[in-house]
Amino acid sequence: MSHDKYPTEEPAVVTCGLPYANGELHIGHLRTYVGGDVYSRALETLGQRTAFVSGSDMHGTPVAVNAEREGVSPREFALRHHEKYEATFPKFNIEFDNYGHTDDETNTELTREIVRKLDEEGYIYEKEIKVAWDPIEDDPLPDRYVEGTCPYCGAHARGDECDEGCGRHLEPGEIEDPTSTRTGNPAEYRERTHKFFRVSDLQEYLQGFIDRLEGTSNAKNQPREWIEGELQDWCISRDMDWGIDYPGEDAATEDLVLYVWVDAPIEYIASTKQYTERVGADTYDWEETWKESGEIVHIIGRDIIQHHTVFWPAMLHVAGYNEPRAVMASGFVNLNGKGFSTSRNRAVWADDYLDEGFDPDLLRYYLATNGGFQQDVDFSWDRFQERVNGELVGTVGNFVYRSLLFASRNYDGAPDAETSDEVRERIEETIDEFEAAVNDYSLKDLGDAATALAAFGNEYIQRNEPWKLTDEDPERAEQVIYDCVQLSKALAVLFEPLLPGKAETLWTQLGEDGSVHDAVVADALEAPRGDFGEPDELFAKIEDERVEELNETLEERIEAATSDDDEADDETVSDEEPISDDRISFDEFQDLDLRVGRIESAEPIEGADALLRLEVDIGSETRQIVAGLKQLHDVEELPGTKIVVVANLEKAELFGVESNGMVLAAGEEADLLTTHADAEPGTKIK
Ligand code: MSP
Ligand code: ZN
Repeated sequence: MSHDKYPTEEPAVVTCGLPYANGELHIGHLRTYVGGDVYSRALETLGQRTAFVSGSDMHGTPVAVNAEREGVSPREFALRHHEKYEATFPKFNIEFDNYGHTDDETNTELTREIVRKLDEEGYIYEKEIKVAWDPIEDDPLPDRYVEGTCPYCGAHARGDECDEGCGRHLEPGEIEDPTSTRTGNPAEYRERTHKFFRVSDLQEYLQGFIDRLEGTSNAKNQPREWIEGELQDWCISRDMDWGIDYPGEDAATEDLVLYVWVDAPIEYIASTKQYTERVGADTYDWEETWKESGEIVHIIGRDIIQHHTVFWPAMLHVAGYNEPRAVMASGFVNLNGKGFSTSRNRAVWADDYLDEGFDPDLLRYYLATNGGFQQDVDFSWDRFQERVNGELVGTVGNFVYRSLLFASRNYDGAPDAETSDEVRERIEETIDEFEAAVNDYSLKDLGDAATALAAFGNEYIQRNEPWKLTDEDPERAEQVIYDCVQLSKALAVLFEPLLPGKAETLWTQLGEDGSVHDAVVADALEAPRGDFGEPDELFAKIEDERVEELNETLEERIEAATSDDDEADDETVSDEEPISDDRISFDEFQDLDLRVGRIESAEPIEGADALLRLEVDIGSETRQIVAGLKQLHDVEELPGTKIVVVANLEKAELFGVESNGMVLAAGEEADLLTTHADAEPGTKIK
């Protein structure tokens, strides 16, 4: 990689954070993909050789959890979403050179190869760690299968990520008060052997890397705290079936798959490789980019900065690959200040937008240039309307329409003239701004530069009043209109990254050859070619009534999602399940043999965090009963406590210990049932 100004001599690759193949795409996701598409097109417009790649993230618990909920296999589930995404991106003019997925052969092989290399380089070791386990189902609970409290900030967090608090990646075993998201059971921690990547040895390298890194300031600053603090090693294996099998033959790794965050970013390389396989290394050589000297630019959302600025460069470095030149991390798209929520349907879905029949370029413009890329933004149809009607309709559309209409009516196209110095210089200035915006990784500046050129055009036409000149000074009129056609051509070229569909329409209206997608900045100054007929308007105004309707629909959705939230909150406060409508007969109740018991002794069971082995006196005999009381009660205080036992429950074995009966307790805190007076052990409860 160079740190030279773009365009450089090296090939570039622009990548977008891979979408988990686990649901619908919303316009929050689209900020990453529109951002990547705009940036890669802008590099190409500067003349930089660029590949634009991504793929679906098929593995990990985000996919496994949702597939399980639907009762289908993770592979089938993920492939279905992958195909949907692949078909959706082009509808937003997001044109990847290659869009693969992490479960394909290219990525699987490359991932194994890279992990083997990390091992050969001495950066992998095994360690016994505590991992969350569901004691009742006897299932491991990796990542999103467990939730609890973040040990760093105290926020509610899911297994591998503090997504509502400090945003940190959490290692297995770190989350506090774990419960299973599958069953609601309190989880316990069990000892398991796992594989670790020695990131802590790479502190010096990573410090240098973060100093060199370009991109948005959040991506350069946020990781400092992690890199300069105590760098932890990274657990790269999981107890799961779904994922890429941990490479190697030894027994310890037989049941392990790689952590999803290992194989996911490797898809950036695999996807580039597939592109080369398709077009040939003469056109684009993935090895030159990834192993030698390419310019690697990652576009992501701010929630995954740590993965891209710590773990990922660490892997690349040890495996002998090139390092990323830049990370552009966008802020979040929110609704009413709150994050999108897939499960609560609090989102504007990509399909909703398309169903409204809006042109994709309008959303691209809004997403890429509304505020700085790193700013969180609240999605708003009002703001969307304001930007579309003000800038796209009022400034850009207005200028090109009046110019081309005038030109076609009076001259059947571009009049016979040459571009004035004033206009030439103004276009050159815009090209400089365009180039500076790309080098500053600022999509907002990119949009502002082009929109300002259109505003200049409006001012220029207004100032020169060509409609008066056609009679008074026909030559001067030709000059002015020629300038306007030149400006329109420049706008097509310079707006191509943001508005690829509209730019192409304009290009065709101008009667230009080929496609504006192949144009480079210098073409903005090339003489316009000639003949064209009457244009159509590029953009249509969005009416107030339309926005009112859209707002109503959105508000209804937010309200529904919020009342779901309230219900969920109520549940956690009162913890109350509705009373069952299913009545049982007295006889059925009589089938239960409930007895008063007294706990004689209580002791922990090895390996089980929640369970205790109790000796319980039930009058006629002393029973051994296993109960999940350990984390909720003071174990020493339990002997002597009177309790209620289901004495005729069939025997069970928990953690190799036989349980002969069940202790009754109320609620999440396992409040033990007892008697009010002095009923003796063995007394039957009626
Ligand atoms: N699969 C991981 C990324 C792996 S990259 C090697 C992931 N997937 S995701 O589906 O959750 O997100 C995909 C992209 O969308 C990420 O870049 C993420 O930051 C971005 N966004 C998801 N929700 C978003 C918003 N509400 N707003 C802005 N960007 C958001 O993370
Ligand atoms: Zn936290």
